[in-house]
Amino acid sequence: MADRKTIITDSPSEAAEFIRTGGIVAFPTETVYGLGANVFDADAIARIFEAKGRPADNPLIVHIAQITAVEELVDDVTETARRFMQAFFPGPLTLVLKRSEKVPLIATAGLDSVGVRMPGSKIAVEFLRECSVPVAAPSANLSGRPSPTTWDAVLNDLDGRIDAILRGEMTEIGLESTVVDCTSDVPLVLRPGAVSIDQLREVVPETALFFESQITKARSPGMKHKHYAPAATVKMVYRDDEISVGENSAFIGLHRRDGNFRLQKNCQSTEEYAHELFAFFRDCDYAGVRMVYCERVDETGMGAALMDRIRRAEAR
Ligand code: TXA
Ligand code: MG
Repeated sequence: MADRKTIITDSPSEAAEFIRTGGIVAFPTETVYGLGANVFDADAIARIFEAKGRPADNPLIVHIAQITAVEELVDDVTETARRFMQAFFPGPLTLVLKRSEKVPLIATAGLDSVGVRMPGSKIAVEFLRECSVPVAAPSANLSGRPSPTTWDAVLNDLDGRIDAILRGEMTEIGLESTVVDCTSDVPLVLRPGAVSIDQLREVVPETALFFESQITKARSPGMKHKHYAPAATVKMVYRDDEISVGENSAFIGLHRRDGNFRLQKNCQSTEEYAHELFAFFRDCDYAGVRMVYCERVDETGMGAALMDRIRRAEAR
């Protein structure tokens, strides 16, 4: 399908013009780059699924520029959701709520709920304001590849398949948003992210963590699909584990390892590790790495999201 010219622009208003005229556009947020379309335009949304090769049963998140836009997308903004919005919007948090009839079913993969997020980065806010409609957007990668944290990672996956890329900096956080299902009394974290479970519980103490193994029917359809994986095999290791270093192996973690790795990345903090992970996976692919070792970190704060993504890449 690589048959159209993908325009690269630094202008949020030029990028937004494509959205207003039925196009699909990649744009940076503080988490990862998204691939957006007007949520009310079912044809444009169909093009997102086609460009990414995304399974039709995986719902999209709808991005808004101001909190009041939630009312048009959601039927019942619960009290819990209002508290989360007040505490964390704008930011790296997605709330799943009851879908209003205005949101086309193709955007929510047939669900009667919808994920809503208000990004906080300046460029995303400017872009979304200029769009003047809510923007449905999954991460701007080919389905199954790591989410893009740079505009050139987007270009690599989607050149010729989308109308435009709004070029910004490398994304600040580097992992996708925390997804919380607020459709029932007890809010459920479906996907960990930069807003941690502890932060959520400070606002709504009964917030629970969703474990896929406990429920047979996947609550968040996207979580059952393969994710975030480089071509190489991924293996989590403890700091003291012996690992066999070959010329086709790579390492990322907090502590330097001896050995002749093809690639090695040492991070100063869990936040930096999260920021670098997906870009490192892509670098490993370009370098032909066959085995990527990832050091385990404590699963607190950002560590929970980081380990979640590494575990998914390992399980591939
Ligand atoms: O940070 C992010 O969330 C990025 C940026 C672009 O906003 N977006 C993103 O979208 O990661 P995507 O499509 O790659 O992941 C969305 C996740 C999927 O796991 C999907 O199943 C879940 O959110 N999701 C979306 N709507 C849902 C709904 N109505 N019910 C349950 N899960 C939903
Ligand atoms: Mg994604």
